[in-house]
Amino acid sequence: MKKGRILTGDRPTGPLHLGHYVGSLKNRVELQDDYESFIIIADVQALTTNFEHPEQLPQAVRQVAMDYLAVGLDPEKSTIFVQSMIKEIAELTIFYSMFITVNVLRHNPTIKTEAKQYGYQDMTYGFLGYPVSQAADITFCKADLVPVGADQVPHIEFARKIVRRFNELYKPVLVEPKALVGEVGRLVGLDGSAKMSKSLGNAIYLSDSAEAVRKKISMAVTDPARMLRTDPGHPSVCTVFAYHKVFNPEVVADLTKECKSASIGCVDCKKLLAQVINNFLEPMRERRAKYQANPKLVDDILIAGTERAREEGQKTMSQVREAMCLDYFGKQFE
Ligand code: TRP
Repeated sequence: MKKGRILTGDRPTGPLHLGHYVGSLKNRVELQDDYESFIIIADVQALTTNFEHPEQLPQAVRQVAMDYLAVGLDPEKSTIFVQSMIKEIAELTIFYSMFITVNVLRHNPTIKTEAKQYGYQDMTYGFLGYPVSQAADITFCKADLVPVGADQVPHIEFARKIVRRFNELYKPVLVEPKALVGEVGRLVGLDGSAKMSKSLGNAIYLSDSAEAVRKKISMAVTDPARMLRTDPGHPSVCTVFAYHKVFNPEVVADLTKECKSASIGCVDCKKLLAQVINNFLEPMRERRAKYQANPKLVDDILIAGTERAREEGQKTMSQVREAMCLDYFGKQFE
């Protein structure tokens, strides 16, 4: 017996990094045995900011799929699928937009932050409404658990509101989802900024080579007060330390002492971390190699997943249409 159903996913806007791993991918891999899992590659959502560059999607969708397979999502256990091919999600988005007001979206904290970040004076209808579409992603398959990074929590709260509203307006057919945030929450960037992010250029990608990892870590920001090798360090303000805590917890106590007493230098501390992260990424590299050698496997997995997801969408939509009195002919149209 499964404990419930998961839906989560990512926008295909580039390779996934360690921040994605600690925030959400780790939970997905661990929970895929106990939960029926649906993983969405949100290509339409990627277009909310990248609509001028749809030509990037075919490659980006496969890149994300490969990252999923590399971290150990098992297509036998997790249904990996493509958002734009599930027309039930588009339908649900439209239905939900009938009772969601523009002001609620305008005041959504994530929308506000992102609009500022992208420098939007005005924004598209699709961008403003993407939380509605994300609620459709989650609810089209009646997921009850959504493993996500901390920044996504407001969107899951919003999806819960939509579900409650729908169920009370029409009929109680939808399921209220809960967010599940990774234990580590947020991973700092290599530059010391609060968040690892592709757009900030401070990320270690799951697909980085061992050499790239070594190089990136060798350039990471450390304790700015530690100018000389003989100066004592302050681990609590050091980026490299923040990673040791997550990926190398057993040695943190010893390393703290060695850093504070200047018995280890930053160069060695970084070498140690690069080794640990490369050991961590190695099994992913091995899994990835199989799919890189045979990309058709990836497409086949996405096709099968998309077909499976559509079945769930059709089940939900027939209930939604019935609840909304939109089932005039008592028949489903493909
Ligand atoms: N907005 C998410 C992100 O940027 C991606 C996403 C799309 C998602 N649909 C979802 C996450 C549904 C969880 C559930 O990372």
